Amino acid sequence: MVQVSAGLEGVIAAATVLSDVDGQAGRLTIRGWAVEDLAGRARFEDAVHLLLDGFFDDLPADLAPALGEARVQAFAEVAALDDALAARDPYDAMRALLARLPDGDSLCDALTLALTLAVAPAVFTAATLRRRQDQEAIAPDPALPHAADFLRMIRGATPTEGEARALDAYLVTVCDHGLNASTFAARVAASTRAGLASAVLAGLSTLKGPLHGGAPGPVIDMLDAIGTADNAVPWLETALDAGERLMGFGHRIYRVRDPRADALKAALSRLSKSAGALPGRLALAEAVERAALDILRRRKPDRPLETNVEFYTALLLEALDLPPQAFTCVFAAGRTAGWIAHAREQQASGKLIRPQSVYVGPRPRAAA
Ligand code: CMC
Repeated sequence: MVQVSAGLEGVIAAATVLSDVDGQAGRLTIRGWAVEDLAGRARFEDAVHLLLDGFFDDLPADLAPALGEARVQAFAEVAALDDALAARDPYDAMRALLARLPDGDSLCDALTLALTLAVAPAVFTAATLRRRQDQEAIAPDPALPHAADFLRMIRGATPTEGEARALDAYLVTVCDHGLNASTFAARVAASTRAGLASAVLAGLSTLKGPLHGGAPGPVIDMLDAIGTADNAVPWLETALDAGERLMGFGHRIYRVRDPRADALKAALSRLSKSAGALPGRLALAEAVERAALDILRRRKPDRPLETNVEFYTALLLEALDLPPQAFTCVFAAGRTAGWIAHAREQQASGKLIRPQSVYVGPRPRAAA
């Protein structure tokens, strides 16, 4: 009997120099750096450089000017954002605009295209959010750091240094994460020698679902529905009794707490201090987190289900005044550089990814 590995669980399908997820120890290493050391220190520009280093011959040491110019290039596509597209889910609108970019030749080393793709989710998300509020899209300022410009293009005003740093911490924290579902999809597309934009679109489409990058919006819905700390236990028990999953908990690889949760919690705490904000929302979230972990341990004693990255993603992005419908777009704005690097690494291996299935349907019928 052929054994099928459901969800490819436990299957090692690539060797990578990009990142390592140690699910037993709760460690994430990105090109030799622990994620908690990168978050809070590195800017988005540093993370893109770290990931693309070695995959493009002409990568400049300082990527900030080239990424600023790439935002300007991407903004040219915003002219195609009509009312019908802007009315769609922001993620769908962002993906549709990204699909307008040239695909690129799989064998050429088109750094300009790679950088345009890396910043495109930020530029398109900002334009879409503004159009949904009947406001003009704001053109990028190539002289600004990427995170500050991203927030400025959404708000129409330059953010504080603390806010830009908090968004940097988020984008850096989620920039790469081993062979997660969207990265695998990007590598499959790249392995067919499709272009770089096709690989990014494969990753983008796979990130969208709530079991992967679509969870942080529902985390906010959960916190809003719970409302007060004393309502946490009954609300969570009712949701689980109804067969629902608690968003922001559990992971395929981590059997302990996701280290990205703490990196983002630390960024949130720095942001609250710099903004002087009252930590009421954080107190509610911590109460819900404690209750959820207790209940999950009791209900699933054999399956460790701990806090994952999405729980504190939701709180950090909410504290930056970003609307929950855009949270997955912001996740994509961080992860795209990872998809690009993986696509290049996969292309270099030259091997088509093509697993097999076992046929369990009916045998051929006798022809009449
Ligand atoms: N709440 C309640 N039960 C859960 C949860 C949860 N969040 N996660 C897993 N379980 C249960 C699940 O019902 C199953 O129980 P049983 O064996 O009785 O059927 C058991 O735990 C194993 O679940 P699984 O679906 O086989 O595990 P998986 O490794 O395929 O799932 C996961 C990983 C992330 C899809 C899952 O934990 C989940 O759905 N979490 C909620 C959604 C979420 O937070 N997604 C963001 C993931 S982190 C971002 C990223 O890195 O992609």
